[in-house]
Amino acid sequence: MKKWYAVIGDPIGHSLSPMMHNEWFQQLGIDATYLPIHVKEEDLEAAVASMKLLGISGFNVTIPHKEKIRPFLDALDETAEKMGAVNTVVRLEDGRLKGYNTDGLGFVRSLEEVIGDTKRHEKVLLIGAGGAARGIAFALESIGYTDVTICNRTVEKAQQICAELTIPAQAISLNTASEQLDEYAILIQTTPAGMKNSQVTIPFSLEKLKSSAIVADIVYNPLMTPLLQAAQDKGATIVSGLGMFIHQGALAFEYWTKQSPDPTAVKEQLLTHLGGN
Ligand code: ATR
Repeated sequence: MKKWYAVIGDPIGHSLSPMMHNEWFQQLGIDATYLPIHVKEEDLEAAVASMKLLGISGFNVTIPHKEKIRPFLDALDETAEKMGAVNTVVRLEDGRLKGYNTDGLGFVRSLEEVIGDTKRHEKVLLIGAGGAARGIAFALESIGYTDVTICNRTVEKAQQICAELTIPAQAISLNTASEQLDEYAILIQTTPAGMKNSQVTIPFSLEKLKSSAIVADIVYNPLMTPLLQAAQDKGATIVSGLGMFIHQGALAFEYWTKQSPDPTAVKEQLLTHLGGN
């Protein structure tokens, strides 16, 4: 019987997940379809119960439901528990729905696709201390990064994440980060700055950025954010958010189907779709 999958969010119309997952189903000859479903916050519990009743095989969860969905699921894996957020739900063999989070590891995979795995002992600066930064911090720690600093507008939120990490980590202000930028080998931008329609375009000046630095942004619309542009102008290596989007999806796909999709093949399609942004 044909299987079905979905992504739920509000809004959901612009999600690129259906394009990506349907392409992978087709490439791997899997008889399944993936639908975007618009779910308002007040309907979340009923929507989850309905999808479960109707036999959904798995789904992704996007803004604004990643945290609020937790009580409506039957189980959470350790990463989702630690992050306090779910982006992937898997229907287990006994029919129960289990929540996972592939965002952090998806980001790290996309980063290392570009820079390799030889920089794990270098200094990393995370910009922002929201859910995305939390996931990336834990993922960096889990694969062996040893030196993480988190800067945030609200320093207390950065301190909170640092306290939960087992590697030495420090929290600083955005100003301090900007002043000591030349200390960092890798910068990871996790705030909405630079996102289409966002009022903030860049978190801080990159005047002190080293030309040998690597600068990654989780924003992928537009692909070239003002931060990435400024970093490129300084000679730095840049990593756009599209890779994270693809890899978080590939990890979800692996949970659902036990098969690994080709992350590079859909990239062209997504780039074409985002072209001109
Ligand atoms: P997500 O779950 O997508 O990471 P979030 O939890 O709302 O989203 O976190 C957004 C991050 O962007 C936070 O670090 C936030 O800073 P605060 O903790 O001080 O709120 C940061 N952010 C959002 N708008 C910002 C702005 N205008 N200037 C600086 N930082 C901003």
